Amino acid sequence: MPIPTPHINAKAGDFADTVLMPGDPKRSRMIAENFLQDAVLVNDVRGVQGYTGKYKGKRVSVMASGMGQPAIGIYSYELFKEYDVKNIIRIGSCGSLHPDLHLKDLIIAQAACTDGNYAIQYRLPGTFAPIADFGLLRKAVDEAEKKGVNYKVGNILSSDIFYDDAGSGMDWAKVGVLGIEMESAALYCNAARLGKNALCICTVSDSFNYPDEIMTAEERQTSLTAMIEIALEIA
Ligand code: HPA
Repeated sequence: MPIPTPHINAKAGDFADTVLMPGDPKRSRMIAENFLQDAVLVNDVRGVQGYTGKYKGKRVSVMASGMGQPAIGIYSYELFKEYDVKNIIRIGSCGSLHPDLHLKDLIIAQAACTDGNYAIQYRLPGTFAPIADFGLLRKAVDEAEKKGVNYKVGNILSSDIFYDDAGSGMDWAKVGVLGIEMESAALYCNAARLGKNALCICTVSDSFNYPDEIMTAEERQTSLTAMIEIALEIA
């Protein structure tokens, strides 16, 4: 596949070894403007903004993934394979399934279950278990400890269905799944297939146990800041 790719119009070398990947393109710009020095826009295809700048003197990139496994499947594949990115750290939001995980707490996704079919392409005679890179995971845990934030490490569900007619969220909770989001399993599959490293850190933005809990704008901001700083520190 030539560079630029069908979905990324950056040049070779435009991305740093580590790319932070929020879902929302506006969040990508917010991170570039507020956390990076000398940030340069390197991709804008379909408004999926990608920036490369410096954090504490280290080169780091941030680019949005869009929503869902098909979207992050495309962007992470092209970044890993064609732009030779080594690490992708998804920084997203999730719904909590665990009674001790309230709004603005963090989930560090050690592994990702899925109700989707992304791994079917590998034609395996069984079920593939998508997992995070242990080195990135360990660093994220260290940083979360330093920050003193409430977090858990464990399994999440990358669901292809946001409005789930079957309401199966709490069935996943029964087997210890901590939260639901929509991207990590595909990201972890791509990293595994291409010999790269991936991690997902999620801020709890809603809770299946406490549907009435609502985050204030300020809480949303501080909790996002913790997650972004953890990701930047390990980059
Ligand atoms: N489901 C799926 N994705 C999400 C959720 C959810 O409840 N909350 C935030 N992202």
